Amino acid sequence: MSNQPTQQWGSRLGVILAVAGSAVGLGNFLRFPGNAAENGGGAFMIPYFLALVFLGIPVGWAEWAMGRYGGRKGFHSAPGIMGIWCKGAWGRYAGVLGVLIPLGVYFYYVLIESWCLYYFWKYCTGGIGLDAATDVQTVQVPKTHGFFGDVVGAAEHGALFTNGLHPVLVAFVITVVCNVWFVYRGLSKGIETVCKYAMPVMALLGIVILVRVLTLGAPAGTTGQTVNDGLGYLWNPNFDKLWDFKTWVAATGQIFFSLSVGFGVIINYASYMKKKDDVVLSGLTASATNEFFEVVLGGLITVTASVVFVGVLLTSQATGGSMSLGFKTLPMVFAQMPGGNLFGAAFFLILFLAAITSSLSMLQPTKAFFEEALGIDKVKSTTLVTVWGLLGNAFVLWYSKGLTALDTIDFWVGSFFIMVVATVQIIAFGWIFGLERGIQEAHEGAQLRIPKLFQFIIKYVSPVYLIVVIVGFCITNLPDSVKADGSIASGYWSKVLNDADTQRTWWFLLVTILGLVAITFVGARRWRAQGLDLDGQLPAKD
Ligand code: ALA
Repeated sequence: MSNQPTQQWGSRLGVILAVAGSAVGLGNFLRFPGNAAENGGGAFMIPYFLALVFLGIPVGWAEWAMGRYGGRKGFHSAPGIMGIWCKGAWGRYAGVLGVLIPLGVYFYYVLIESWCLYYFWKYCTGGIGLDAATDVQTVQVPKTHGFFGDVVGAAEHGALFTNGLHPVLVAFVITVVCNVWFVYRGLSKGIETVCKYAMPVMALLGIVILVRVLTLGAPAGTTGQTVNDGLGYLWNPNFDKLWDFKTWVAATGQIFFSLSVGFGVIINYASYMKKKDDVVLSGLTASATNEFFEVVLGGLITVTASVVFVGVLLTSQATGGSMSLGFKTLPMVFAQMPGGNLFGAAFFLILFLAAITSSLSMLQPTKAFFEEALGIDKVKSTTLVTVWGLLGNAFVLWYSKGLTALDTIDFWVGSFFIMVVATVQIIAFGWIFGLERGIQEAHEGAQLRIPKLFQFIIKYVSPVYLIVVIVGFCITNLPDSVKADGSIASGYWSKVLNDADTQRTWWFLLVTILGLVAITFVGARRWRAQGLDLDGQLPAKD
């Protein structure tokens, strides 16, 4: 067994809430509505639900089962556990991505979390100074965009450090301290406790805001658009978008990011469960909770309110991968709403709570990895993950111009690599470990059986689906590939090859990956010396 004392969840509900807390995050309230609105509205929901059924739920089940089994073998990190399921060193090194993802996403995620805290503070103390009587296009839009640009330092690299202490940096420090404190306290006293309180508060506040938004009608003095127009903007299908491969990639990436599946989180959380703890129903419950927050709350609040108050044009301008809609457009909405500051504060509080339950889940797998690979105690592992996290945060904070560093990590680590890890996991589960054995493992203590149809999906459909999306993405984003209409596409690879800011971010990621590979190498030697079954040759101990 690992030489670290094994932690445990306090209760079954605790682990479900912790996974749901990890899943429900900024992705639900900001990234989902932005993605849906940009990629065909109602039509986006087709690839989205297909990805949920054929990928999110089956890969999630596989990950829960893999994690619990790995925990019984003495491992709590993706490299350790994937080495077992892939039966060899290559799986261990593929598992490095399962640490890079939580750590890399944390690099920027905690910054957005601190923006939420800062906006929350502003709304508690009078708002961001918007006058609802002023012209939207000429006064309010420049003001909200300017405010946001100032908060994120979008104008220049290092902008946040040029004029004295920017208050958002104070919010950042508070956010980091909260994260480090709760992750240091451990699973049951830290993460589980936060999620137990935060999840119901989020649900309650979310429902209150949703009811407010759905009963808006067409407020006098605004755009004249109704709630129906808002709902129509998000949900009316634009089927043309289904022919665009980007829509399928966006929907697949959204499902994984949102469910925290393929993220390296569930594999770690499940590793602290006991053999007879149910993983099938727990996995389904956590996914269902996430979908409620995403489709019902995230999908109905942000875009609907935005269309009613500021119109389709401004809403569409603010949507995008960097999750900016909530920060750029909603302040105009709150300025015009009776009791707007209160709703503004409630909204940004939800975002902050959603974000912290997710960012904790990003630190925990990395901390566990350091403990078991380097044989260090929780003080040292917490220090190491804090320092490494701060280096990443500093990189994104400093290279803030145009948010390129943030967007680059969000896309490559927060979408692309997740799909790669998910592919390795589902192939390991269905083909290397063996479907029958894998399902048998998942069924231990399960109150619900995985239906035969899903067993077929796990074995054949999910891997093929993922491979098609990844290969399709790579081809359609080849540098300077020619689009169907003859124009030249400037894909993601072009950016990597040509844009200096993107390249710098890639170098930073590569150094991070090399560091994690080196630690995995050291870890493998330790595990072998300890007599752990790191290549998965022996049956798991009970
Ligand atoms: N699953 C988390 C989110 O949706 C990362 O924000």
